[in-house]
Amino acid sequence: MAFEWPSGMDAGFGRQTYRARHDLHESPLFSDEGLAGLLDTYPREKLGVYRFPPHGEGITRAAHGRAPDISGRDLLAAVRDGQIWLNLRAVNRQVEAFSEVEEMIFGSIEAAAGLRTRKRDVGVLISSPRIQVHYHLDIPLVCLVQVRGVKTLHLYPAGAPYAGAEQVEAIALRLQDEELTFRQGFEAGAEVIELHPGMALTWPQNAPHRVENGDCLNVSLSCEFMTLPALLRANALYTNGQLRRRLGLDPALPGGAGPSVLGKAVIARGLKLVDRPPEAAPTPVTFEVQAGSGEIRDLADA
Ligand SMILES: [Fe+2]
Repeated sequence: MAFEWPSGMDAGFGRQTYRARHDLHESPLFSDEGLAGLLDTYPREKLGVYRFPPHGEGITRAAHGRAPDISGRDLLAAVRDGQIWLNLRAVNRQVEAFSEVEEMIFGSIEAAAGLRTRKRDVGVLISSPRIQVHYHLDIPLVCLVQVRGVKTLHLYPAGAPYAGAEQVEAIALRLQDEELTFRQGFEAGAEVIELHPGMALTWPQNAPHRVENGDCLNVSLSCEFMTLPALLRANALYTNGQLRRRLGLDPALPGGAGPSVLGKAVIARGLKLVDRPPEAAPTPVTFEVQAGSGEIRDLADA
């Protein structure tokens, strides 16, 4: 397994987009058999099962489901034939074979960016043909690795109007999920990147994005992580959110790792000790993927 990043990535890492080449798609981990086995091994209660309404203006929320009894092989077939998005979060901590994948990806990022990575989370995304992931942002840094199929990433600049300070802070404070308000006018500012097997991409921290799958089963790795500057920024967002909500201030989104960002990161540590942030609000489970057939049962109708 190998991963190749461009040289000079240390100059703008975390603030610019960089593309890598890799050969993970040649690994048996991601063959049909490999994926079915992975779905059987990975703790099923931790499996993220989602459906997304069509992309459009405003806020689009994912529907959260479960798939407790279906075999890995049938679940893979249900994804291929249906409209389902699976996320096997932190697979590097759950499945031994993926600790090697973690080392390879993050080792290559550290060497190319000249930074230590922390809070490493490798998620395997297995998703249906044509499914669209809603407009959202992630608080950590992300490296998206395309393994099977083709998907189109729409990437928008970090900050207003694409993501207003108040919404980004609410995500950092875990007062809301990661979804954002989309406006058709944002499209003019989007960078559109078609991802094929063998490609990987990392983009500026907190840059909003959405994804459209091609007409084929998709397998990608969503690798989330922090660096020291990324942690400082996340903590500054947290503090800004508290300042806005408790003191009625209107702080701008944090810039680079200047003195004010460092000061806010220290304050965030204090605030979190006094007032521990809530765990991400659990989204209610509204559907179940049925054993055998892979059909979707709406739990509201149960
Ligand atoms: Fe994302």
